[in-house]
Amino acid sequence: MDELHEGVHSLVGHTPLVALRYIQPELPARLYAKLEGQNPTGSVKDRIVLRMLERARREGALAPGQKLIEASTGNTGLAVAMFGRRFGHPVEICVPESVYPEIGRLLTAHGATIRWVPRQAGIKSALAVAASVARDEGAFFLDQFGNPENVRTHYESTAAEILEALPRVDAFIAGIGTGGTITGVGRRLKEANPHCKIVGVEPRLGVHVQGLMSLDDGFIPPLLDESLLDAKLLVGNRHAVDHARRVLAMEGLFVGISSGAVMHAALRVASRLGAGNMVLMFADGGAKYLSTELWDAPAPDAAYDPDDPLDDVLWW
Ligand SMILES: Cc1ncc(COP(=O)(O)O)c(C=O)c1O
Repeated sequence: MDELHEGVHSLVGHTPLVALRYIQPELPARLYAKLEGQNPTGSVKDRIVLRMLERARREGALAPGQKLIEASTGNTGLAVAMFGRRFGHPVEICVPESVYPEIGRLLTAHGATIRWVPRQAGIKSALAVAASVARDEGAFFLDQFGNPENVRTHYESTAAEILEALPRVDAFIAGIGTGGTITGVGRRLKEANPHCKIVGVEPRLGVHVQGLMSLDDGFIPPLLDESLLDAKLLVGNRHAVDHARRVLAMEGLFVGISSGAVMHAALRVASRLGAGNMVLMFADGGAKYLSTELWDAPAPDAAYDPDDPLDDVLWW
């Protein structure tokens, strides 16, 4: 039966888990993708932002009309801009200049003020600027990198949804940005099945994959529980882009670049795992990356080569 929704907040989460049947049909493993691009602002970040704001309002940490500040390379900023305005708060987002042009335009469309930080200073400096605005202006800093509600949201909602749709999960593959997704979901999936392999995906050092962090860059996200990880794959930009295009061409799913990185990593994991159910986190959709050359070339149709030497893989 179709549901009647009470407002945009009730559209967050309950995203589809869809079988990927065409991209590598001969694999013994079954692959399922969690389509987070179907959240209202188009990414997984709607989940954590809504819960952070609701909790802060409930506990009185956030006053009516108080300004919101956050540091983001895009998705979290969009979620804060949308829900912040919806709840009556002015919103300012600290954004590194290296983000794709669509991010600035979307933030503006959502009525947010943008504070640009220099390209080379990256998210670390955006975080410092956001913390100082919070101090100087009395703004409420959501702090996605340090707020425990981030992990709790994924433990209580994202993981619960996955297990409801697929009670046995043998491997979970997700990108690492704040580490909130992999820590919260990973913890719950391991409780359900202690043999479930938790695989984190990072960009290789110096490579830009929107939303992901290289831990080798010297920034360990404080929320990330590395003890949960059974493997870590460092993915290059070419692999991420090729696989985002392949997912679109073969499965008909228009996903973002970090999802391409996850897809690439998952195929490597699959060749090692054998039979089993694998869940892939597709954190956002592809439309936000239209200004890149990502979609210009025809999708590669060569068979996937699991022995491609270009990745660094740290296995269980
Ligand atoms: C597109 C995209 N993929 C993956 C991630 C990683 O998620 P998390 O921050 O929960 O580690 C992010 C986070 O910003 C993202 O924006």
